[in-house]
Amino acid sequence: MAEFLTGMKRTVKCGDVTVDMVGQEVTVMGWTNRRRNLGSLVFFQIRDISGIVQAVIDSNKVSAELFEKAEQVKLEYVIAVKGVVAKRTGPNVNPNMKTGEIEIEVTELRILSEAEVTPFNVGDTNAGEALRLKYRYLDLRREDLQRNLIVRSKIAQTTRRYLSDNGFLEIETPFLGKSTPEGARDYLVPSRVHPGKFYALPQSPQIFKQLLMVAGMDRYFQIAKCFRDEDLRANRQPEFTQIDIEMSFVDKEEDIFEVIEGLIYNIFKDVKGMELARPFNRMSYNDAMALYGSDKPDLRFDMQLKDISEVVKGCGFGVFESALETGAVKCIVLKNHEGDVSRKEIDKLTDLVKTYKAKGLAYYGKNKDGGVRCSFTKFVSPEFLDKLADACGIENNDLAFIVSDANYETACISLGALRCHLAEKFGMIDPEKFEILWLTDFPLFEYDEEDQRYVAKHHPFTSPKNEDVPLMKTAPDKVRAKAYDLVINGEEAGGGSLRIYNRDIQKLMFETLGFTDEQIAQKFGFFVNAFNYGTPPHGGIAFGLDRLTMLLTNTASIKDVIAFPKMQNACDLMSEAPNVVEEKQLKELGIEISKQEK
Ligand code: AMO
Repeated sequence: MAEFLTGMKRTVKCGDVTVDMVGQEVTVMGWTNRRRNLGSLVFFQIRDISGIVQAVIDSNKVSAELFEKAEQVKLEYVIAVKGVVAKRTGPNVNPNMKTGEIEIEVTELRILSEAEVTPFNVGDTNAGEALRLKYRYLDLRREDLQRNLIVRSKIAQTTRRYLSDNGFLEIETPFLGKSTPEGARDYLVPSRVHPGKFYALPQSPQIFKQLLMVAGMDRYFQIAKCFRDEDLRANRQPEFTQIDIEMSFVDKEEDIFEVIEGLIYNIFKDVKGMELARPFNRMSYNDAMALYGSDKPDLRFDMQLKDISEVVKGCGFGVFESALETGAVKCIVLKNHEGDVSRKEIDKLTDLVKTYKAKGLAYYGKNKDGGVRCSFTKFVSPEFLDKLADACGIENNDLAFIVSDANYETACISLGALRCHLAEKFGMIDPEKFEILWLTDFPLFEYDEEDQRYVAKHHPFTSPKNEDVPLMKTAPDKVRAKAYDLVINGEEAGGGSLRIYNRDIQKLMFETLGFTDEQIAQKFGFFVNAFNYGTPPHGGIAFGLDRLTMLLTNTASIKDVIAFPKMQNACDLMSEAPNVVEEKQLKELGIEISKQEK
């Protein structure tokens, strides 16, 4: 029978009992983590959010009734224990445990809540993921998940403190709104009062935060839930959290960077005790593409892309030469590992670059004795190979991978992906390192082949660079944006821009995107109108709180930093959402479900 807590009060958390408390009486409470019965002695570990402490009950020292009760305690029972802290001696000391030097000699024990046998042992990550997600509240008892949520909470606290100290107001914006222009699919909420009409859950508070600037709020932030119905990946969830920020009277990137670097500096300091060097590195989009084949380069390792287009001119190998007119020939050199890459492995690497639209992967290297290994020897002269070795800096035991493509970005991006893959495979990444940079000068537009029109790379309210405005009409693909991402260890931690606040430029922007006046009025009418009444120059950024937490806890899956995450197929296995609703609810909403095709 479970007992009441009446009269007992926790004096210390389990993980906080220290050697300094030896001889003191303490009361701890928590879950039974482990249990051992050695005849006249019963040991159990008690676990709470702060850690684990061992308790011991000696049948020679306590009443028979208390000892009997101790024998009944099973795993995951919630118990309260009062006792005296004692020093462990000899082999009983456990150096791997924070509280390994002490134990509590129990004088009073209460069983507060019994537990059935759990579907898997708490802490056992070998239990299937689906099972652990179904019983998420049990998996959340695991120490590393608890630690991740503690870090997440710390990041939120530091954010609130730093931004409030710097004049930012925390303001909430609606969940029930109209579609925002972030570009993913919306989650829709049917309106009962207006049958046939829908709210859209915000993909981000973008529009509202800009309106807050029009409203004179000066500096805004919000730790905001965002909803995007897009395909999930290891770093994406359908609902996620942004640290969303906007500020007025700024019109260049540096104005934003200064404030935001302070925020990131403080987060790293509070969470990791690290003092980041400021200012952070900056790199233009074009340089990042050329040198790393990515708009989120991982700078924890080197292996830059080299452009060998000039070198291969006239080499006689058609595959290289045919790329030159519109594209490029690029290579990366894997140093000191030629001997570790088998023919079969090269086939796999070729498949990898093909998933990034490359047509193939050429290679050229030297083994430990200087012997050449090359996929295109028969098409080129030995002199050319020497020239190539010089240009790429190939020494013994190095292997160069080459992609040529008539599309410059394809050559860069496919090699960029290979670069990351090789770094991972050959252990070139120091997991303790943090490489942070601002990625700047993004293109304002990208061409959507499917729709055959330009779309905004960031969103339609991002400002072009002042000097590029004239190009909007003549060469949209050359226009650079006042947009930036903060990249940490090859992940996009956040992104933002300076916004358009000039009506003529906004009009030009919409024209380039091919919106008719009607579409503008229908999609953004209220927003564009607001800009007619006096708009301060403004800009901002949003960070993925989930992604920041992943980076700061070195966690590979976004699910491990969210208390109740969704599966790959956007389902919550625990609550079984999404689910069917009652016919009556549908009727009220004026909704009829069409028969699903089997
Ligand atoms: P953006 O769409 O780049 O910009 O999003 C900002 C940051 O949010 C995080 N993020 C996600 N995290 C988890 N799951 C997702 N599905 C997901 N999508 C995005 C990323 C990303 O860098 N309104 C603009 C910001 C602005 O211009 O101020 C916006 O939402 O870390």
